[in-house]
Amino acid sequence: AHLIAGLKVSDVSISLVLMDFEGADVAFHEHAIAPRRYTPDALADEVYQGLARLSEKAQCALSDISGVGVGLAGIVDAGNGLVYWSPSLDRRNVPFGAVLSERLGIAAYVDNDANLVAMAELTFGIGKNHSDFIVITIESGVGMGMVLGGHLYRGTRGCGAEFGHTKVHLDGALCRCGQRGCLEAYVADYALVREAHSVGNVAQMAPTSKAVTAVLAAAREGDPTARTVIERAGKMFALGLANLVNIFDPELVILAGEQMQFDHLYADAVIEQMRKSIVDIDKPAPDVVVHKWDTFMWARGGAAYALEFVQDTAVEAL
Ligand code: BGC
Ligand code: NA
Ligand code: ZN
Repeated sequence: AHLIAGLKVSDVSISLVLMDFEGADVAFHEHAIAPRRYTPDALADEVYQGLARLSEKAQCALSDISGVGVGLAGIVDAGNGLVYWSPSLDRRNVPFGAVLSERLGIAAYVDNDANLVAMAELTFGIGKNHSDFIVITIESGVGMGMVLGGHLYRGTRGCGAEFGHTKVHLDGALCRCGQRGCLEAYVADYALVREAHSVGNVAQMAPTSKAVTAVLAAAREGDPTARTVIERAGKMFALGLANLVNIFDPELVILAGEQMQFDHLYADAVIEQMRKSIVDIDKPAPDVVVHKWDTFMWARGGAAYALEFVQDTAVEAL
């Protein structure tokens, strides 16, 4: 065993990366899945299939993989692999770390997907040179990872940094977490699609990732209603960011995720609006960097996470 794997479960696929113990990429694979909620066993099975293909590509055996770091959207207690809620699973309170380890025959370490993006930034990205920063992802949901004093901060129960579910509206729009008025319910992909539908901008289509691509493309081409939808979402997002800055005053905020590809009409306006909304308006605002990773950034963070355990074990064995 001399390899580690990292993966991220999203709505339509599981993206996987294989690395050596130095953190160098060995192979990548994208395993398509149906956009639905899975039973824990069925999702573990998809992960197994994705991992099997990945190891085939790298021409190694599954037994060459010492650990797998897994990113899932939702409220995850990373310490014990417990998933309290995930949009990828059909039930709550799943000991998914244990389910996966059992199915794969490899130690699996589960964490929140956006926490793992922060881990990827800390290990391989912009965060390498920073000890305090916040990463916000904006895609199917709104995620957050927080590095304080050089360490990922997960909260007391391991499930903090849920920026997407900070409340911005009393009795507001329905969020995928089941509550109302969450920031995410105004800015995530599904919120853009809902708003675009309500003004008749895009035809009904599934999955959401396809529909949101249409909305963003229309906005890019200058469609005024699509632009309005995106600008409003951007303003809501900026308010959320200003709240974060007002609380943490971080050194650096990293914005990641597919919606950030539209920075000419999104990120720039968001950053501008955020600057206007922070309370210490006369002081310089924190640096905000848009980081356009490829889709494997989440998976790389998973591998970095698994590497922590592998390295610990290697040290213990000495
Ligand atoms: C979830 C977060 C996740 C984010 C991005 C949100 O809906 O609550 O846990 O990090 O989506 O996937
Ligand atoms: Na998080
Ligand atoms: Zn919510």
